Amino acid sequence: MRKLGILLFVVLLLSACGPAQTAVPTSPPEAPTNAPVVAEPTVEPTQAPTVEPTKKVYPTWTPRPTSTPFPTNEPLPFEETSLAELARARGIDIGAAVSVDPMLRDSQYSELLAREFSLMVAENALKPGPLQPQQGVFDFSGGDALVAFAEENGMRMRGHTLLWHQQSPAWMEKGNFSREEAIQVLEEHIATVTTHYKGKVYAWDVVNEVIDQGGNGLRDSFWLQSIGPDYIEIAFRAARAADPDALLFFNEYGAEGMGGKSETQYALLKDLLDKGVPIDGVGLQAHLQYQGGPNQMDFERNMQRLADLGLIIHITELDIRLPSPATQKVLDEQAEFYHMVVTACVNQPACKAVILWGVSDNYSWIPGQYRGMGEGLLFDLLYKPKPAYHAVYEALKQ
Ligand code: G3I
Repeated sequence: MRKLGILLFVVLLLSACGPAQTAVPTSPPEAPTNAPVVAEPTVEPTQAPTVEPTKKVYPTWTPRPTSTPFPTNEPLPFEETSLAELARARGIDIGAAVSVDPMLRDSQYSELLAREFSLMVAENALKPGPLQPQQGVFDFSGGDALVAFAEENGMRMRGHTLLWHQQSPAWMEKGNFSREEAIQVLEEHIATVTTHYKGKVYAWDVVNEVIDQGGNGLRDSFWLQSIGPDYIEIAFRAARAADPDALLFFNEYGAEGMGGKSETQYALLKDLLDKGVPIDGVGLQAHLQYQGGPNQMDFERNMQRLADLGLIIHITELDIRLPSPATQKVLDEQAEFYHMVVTACVNQPACKAVILWGVSDNYSWIPGQYRGMGEGLLFDLLYKPKPAYHAVYEALKQ
């Protein structure tokens, strides 16, 4: 009887503990064997953001559930407060690259620009090609129209760009100048342009994309060939001499996160600053791609080390391209990416501007450059606000 009692007790105990658990070993998932080749050096591989224990964790923006998509035939509502007002309240700017033609001819474009943005940058009009089509002959008409619009609407005007290996006039690029002649051409261009816009353009991209595609050194441009590596400091010194009040920027793409080109950029900037070259800021272009990099941690680390050099940071050419036409899910993911980028800027005291590379998707450079891609901005082909607009709104407001 006693034995039966013990047996009953054991059976009851076992059944109370439930079925035996089999320990499943946890191992990291296998790396995919068919990982795509990253063809474009500007895009860093996507990494899951690891949050350091001491790191500040930002509130994340939750996209509208995809099960309740925005009706496609109705615009997303604009918020009452503009992005410009929110940005100004934070002591930063939200900007857009502007083309002269739509600004003058398309009232929807110009109204949206004036309402939502606190800063504008010339998408093309202030590049050397349009500005000095023949040696010594300057055409300021496009730039002047942009500046007038900015002044009329209380917006800041940013200049892009005093030097570039693209969109330079043929006479400048193929002139076979000696070093001395090339220095003179460069100095004259910079002095004439910055003097013309003195007091009107508050910040200039002085040099644009001077690091080579692979990120290993200076680009083998006609400026490097005719002058040598010191063309960069010559350009900055010429700009400072002509307009001592303008902020002078070094602008680059594909150097937003850590590693690769970003290391070259950091080392170059440090070296130039150590030599006393008058550089006030660094422009991180941020032509990003849906499901691409940088991840939040790398982006913040890179901005911090640039800030530690004493540099102002502008996100100068932000867009996040997508396979187009995009689904609601993809638009929501794009919005999340926007939220990360703008939040990172808002939380970095040295970051003073976020500039979109265009006002709306219909005038964006992306479809012309990347087949099947587009929809990289905050407003769609019909100027309707996209989820990305609301994400930027929330990021500026938080
Ligand atoms: O102005 C001419 C016009 O007269 C001509 O009829 C027409 C015919 O194609 O071309 C017009 O010029 C075009 C210009 O944009 C103005 O619309 C050029 O062909 C075209 O190549 C040029 O593209 C610009 C591109 O820079 C030049 O490489 C894009 O609009 C502009 O968004 C893009 O911006 C660059 C930044 O400056 C630097 N970072 C990358 C960014 C995107 O490529």
